[in-house]
Amino acid sequence: MSKDYRSFFGLSGPAFNKQIPAEAIYRYPHLEELHYYLAAAVADGAVAVVTGPVGAGKSTALRAFLTNLDPLRYVVIYVGYTSSDRALFREVAHGLGLSPSYLKGDLLNQLHGAIEHAWLGKQRSTLLVVDDAHLLADSLLTELRQMLNFQMDSATPLGLLLVGQPTLAARLKESQHEALSQRTLIRYTLAGLSRSETSEYGRAHMLAVDGDPDVFTAEAVDLAFQQAKGIPREIGNLCVYALIRAAWQEVRSVDRKVMGEVIQAQKGP
Ligand SMILES: Nc1ncnc2c1ncn2[C@@H]1O[C@H](COP(=O)(O)OP(=O)(O)OP(=O)(O)O)[C@@H](O)[C@H]1O
Ligand SMILES: [Mg+2]
Repeated sequence: MSKDYRSFFGLSGPAFNKQIPAEAIYRYPHLEELHYYLAAAVADGAVAVVTGPVGAGKSTALRAFLTNLDPLRYVVIYVGYTSSDRALFREVAHGLGLSPSYLKGDLLNQLHGAIEHAWLGKQRSTLLVVDDAHLLADSLLTELRQMLNFQMDSATPLGLLLVGQPTLAARLKESQHEALSQRTLIRYTLAGLSRSETSEYGRAHMLAVDGDPDVFTAEAVDLAFQQAKGIPREIGNLCVYALIRAAWQEVRSVDRKVMGEVIQAQKGP
């Protein structure tokens, strides 16, 4: 029996791991641009909407951004998909260090009070980040917009960052969401990687697990890029399968032949 692929390639962990450490995340030009825009939106307590296809790297880009925010200036509350408004607002309460009130009206007042208090007392603004926001019910999107209402002239105690698949952008164009749409300062689409970025992306993931950054030949990268259309999750899946296949065949380099076999195998008979 051959060694498992990690030992064969001398990797310190699983390749192309979702949990890649924030400092190892590959920072390509669009990601840096997005971070710049988000920083401006967050500083102004504005609404920003980031969309992109499945696996395009939205959550990862967000994680890289949030780890760099100054905790003395921002209270960041990250909420994944929740099916009910109560659950979402309870999570926000927990994020603000509160024990949530039972009744929804009380809960919303409680959140408003805490957000205002953080702002007036400590000059910390709250940033509410909702990932997979395309899944939120229309009523919840409306309630999130209502949360942004504060009785202050120039103050910006709450920023909102919505991240999700392209249907989110489409939904926000509907007339029922016009109020939220009008308050949205930044709209950004993450569309995936270019050919040369695909190569850098592979190198970054290999380096993150102490592997050989040159293990994929240029031709193998070409094939992976074309097949995955630059979508990072798809590229990662092809690359990991190719590493496993190369290890089974006991070849040290992932070349055109191995990557081609993987693509054929993914397509099925
Ligand atoms: N800049 C990056 N550097 C390193 N890895 C990345 C980067 N962007 C994406 N990835 C990898 O690609 C995979 C998919 O990324 P991510 O989960 O961020 O996509 P997503 O757009 O949020 O997908 P979904 O639509 O399913 O929520 C993850 O495993 C992640 O590790
Ligand atoms: Mg995601």
